[in-house]
Amino acid sequence: MSALSSQREFIDLRLDRLLPRSGLDPLADPVRAACFSGGKRARPILAMLSAAHFGGRELAALDFGCALEMVHAASLILDDLPCMDDGAMRRGAPTLHRRFGEDAAMLSAIALLNQAYAAITADEGLTAETRLRLGRMLAGAVGFGGLAAGQMRDLRDPAALRDEASLTSLNHQKTGVLFVAALEGGAVIAGADGAACASARLFADRLGFAFQLWDDLQDCTSTLEAMGKDALQDGDRVTFVTLWGEERTRATIKTVIDEALSALGNLDCPMAAYALSLMPAA
Ligand code: IPE
Ligand code: IPE
Ligand code: MG
Ligand code: MG
Ligand code: MG
Repeated sequence: MSALSSQREFIDLRLDRLLPRSGLDPLADPVRAACFSGGKRARPILAMLSAAHFGGRELAALDFGCALEMVHAASLILDDLPCMDDGAMRRGAPTLHRRFGEDAAMLSAIALLNQAYAAITADEGLTAETRLRLGRMLAGAVGFGGLAAGQMRDLRDPAALRDEASLTSLNHQKTGVLFVAALEGGAVIAGADGAACASARLFADRLGFAFQLWDDLQDCTSTLEAMGKDALQDGDRVTFVTLWGEERTRATIKTVIDEALSALGNLDCPMAAYALSLMPAA
């Protein structure tokens, strides 16, 4: 069994424990459908790899990683709603609101966001101070100025405002912040010092940027069959692919991944290998 499949198994088992059983809560079925539908688990895997990279234990970041995965699942549920990207398919199946209704989808997202913080505050493997630090970090990543703001800007910022600088900050808010929370959170759990946390943040910032560039490129070059989610979702929206075209976007992804790896200072480590595997066609 590869190291990664064992991390995924730990994440699946722990998420299973952290979510309500089917039949015990009216939201159990949609919430479980949202969390067990074949996601890559990139954010919890990165949190665990980061904890190990900075001298701690991978499993010490398991609950924090599950919290990140819950936030991520909630963000996708909301992102797919008709009032947002109006997604029909996600991970090869109809989107959550199409299966369970918009009411259940919205309430599932709220429940997942709250359960994420419950998982962090209840993590007995961490000191109270670390739990508090992780909770504050995640709240900053998700709320005002973070993911919610990035999603709002993605829906509402007019095309004329979408120059390189504003698209960079928009992408950071909607996607980069959770990567930063994963990598910095893993470093914090490992007890890393300020310089190590700064390198985790820089690595994550560059990785998150490359990841959203890659996702935007896939949107207009790949297919529903290959991605499991709708292609051409970005429609008339201005992304870096609109500004730069496919070739420059592809080249920039490579440059940005190189920047991420040099922030780590060690190219021959599991975190670097995993980062490269996330964007296979880059
Ligand atoms: C999709 O994230 C949303 C973006 C930030 C581009 P992932 O590609 O990590 O989604 P899953 O969890 O693997 O489906
Ligand atoms: C979504 O970006 C980012 C978040 C969900 C926060 P996209 O809208 O491009 O993600 P996909 O392509 O639907 O997965
Ligand atoms: Mg979107
Ligand atoms: Mg979308
Ligand atoms: Mg996309």
